[in-house]
Amino acid sequence: TAGGVDSYEVTQRAARVEILPGTRTTIWGYEGVFPGPTIVSRRGRRTVVRHHNALPVPTVVHLHGGRTPAEHDGYPTDTVAPGGSREYRYPVEQRAATLWYHDHRLDFTGPQVWRGLAGFHLVHDDEEDALPLPRGDRDVPLMVADRSFGADGALAYPALDPSLTGMPGVRAEFMSGVLGDCILVNGAPWPTMEVSAVRYRFRLLNASNARRYELALDPPPPDGRAFVQVGGDQGLLPAPIGHDTLRIAQAERFDVVVDFSRYSVGQRVTLVNRLGSGGTARVMRFVVARRGHDDSHVPERLAEYRPLGVSEAVRRREFTFRRGGPEHHGVTPWTVDGHLFDPDRMAAEPELGTVELWRLHAQNVPHPVHVHLAPFQVRNADRYSRGWKDTVDLSSGDAVEVLLRFDGYRGRYVFHCHNLEHEDMMMMANFRVR
Ligand code: C2O
Ligand code: CU
Ligand code: CU
Repeated sequence: TAGGVDSYEVTQRAARVEILPGTRTTIWGYEGVFPGPTIVSRRGRRTVVRHHNALPVPTVVHLHGGRTPAEHDGYPTDTVAPGGSREYRYPVEQRAATLWYHDHRLDFTGPQVWRGLAGFHLVHDDEEDALPLPRGDRDVPLMVADRSFGADGALAYPALDPSLTGMPGVRAEFMSGVLGDCILVNGAPWPTMEVSAVRYRFRLLNASNARRYELALDPPPPDGRAFVQVGGDQGLLPAPIGHDTLRIAQAERFDVVVDFSRYSVGQRVTLVNRLGSGGTARVMRFVVARRGHDDSHVPERLAEYRPLGVSEAVRRREFTFRRGGPEHHGVTPWTVDGHLFDPDRMAAEPELGTVELWRLHAQNVPHPVHVHLAPFQVRNADRYSRGWKDTVDLSSGDAVEVLLRFDGYRGRYVFHCHNLEHEDMMMMANFRVR
């Protein structure tokens, strides 16, 4: 029913959990679990999440991909103090999509997400409900994240490790961000999932701080494409796209259907990462445990979609993400257009209800660029970046043009590199919708 409210209460707290068999790991989790509880919203019904901070540090909650009023978007300095609480109100006037929520504290997003502050937030709507896609226990969100552990099971976060940096509180510069050597899926290392020989819908999220993946199935299915993509960051694609492999950068989502009827009962199928080696070359395993009845399928048309035209853009802007710019306390800064993040500096002031064309440029190393509030379409998109998106990966030296729609709310928002260590080194800027 439209117009109602869904309410959630979430306590952010430390917990000791078993991640690696036989050891205990202290995490910081929403409700003390990692991933946090999945929040489920319905388009047209408001969702209110009351967060209590029972952690020893300030926190900020951001709904990634949310069309959220600025005061509830989780601005990096809009913190909840230890012992405090606040309500985040989401109008949910947006299409069905796989969103996620995570910490966004200025300077400390990397370590706080690394310790576990991330969870799914799914939005459903009628358009999605009408499709014959797999549902129920065959619609499975998979949060992929790499981590490193000490011998005692403790999470190791080297960028703030005083034995590496030489000084407590000093951040070591990690050019490529912090990478782990263990792959967790929904918080478990290299898990195995029993499946029936039918279609499954997997909502893949790369929640890693800094790792990119190229996912494939091993063995590949005998008759073609491993994955049929039905959605991206901001919901359903207009039509499905078949992929042999999926390239997924930090914070991106791929909503895919995998048909296990192409395998025989008893077969093991590994989800592998072509960009990894050793332990990071494997992600998880499926075991085709039984036959099953399948009345799902992937239709040729999935959702309404109107490609934006360049002529709709009322402004053109350009932003370069690079390591470089005036030195800051003797350190080379990580910048957007030569500027470190400054809450008072506006990089852009788009007008509410307009479309703009932004040319995004990456230097030194790859940068996955994420824009809050405004969904975008990538111009001349490759097969991995079709549909409405909120994050786009740029290789070093690359430039992409995106058409953004500034809709919904006025106010101050951020856009930034979603390599969380780059973000914490201040590779972030503001825009204000006026
Ligand atoms: Cu997923 Cu500004 O973040
Ligand atoms: Cu975001
Ligand atoms: Cu970056």
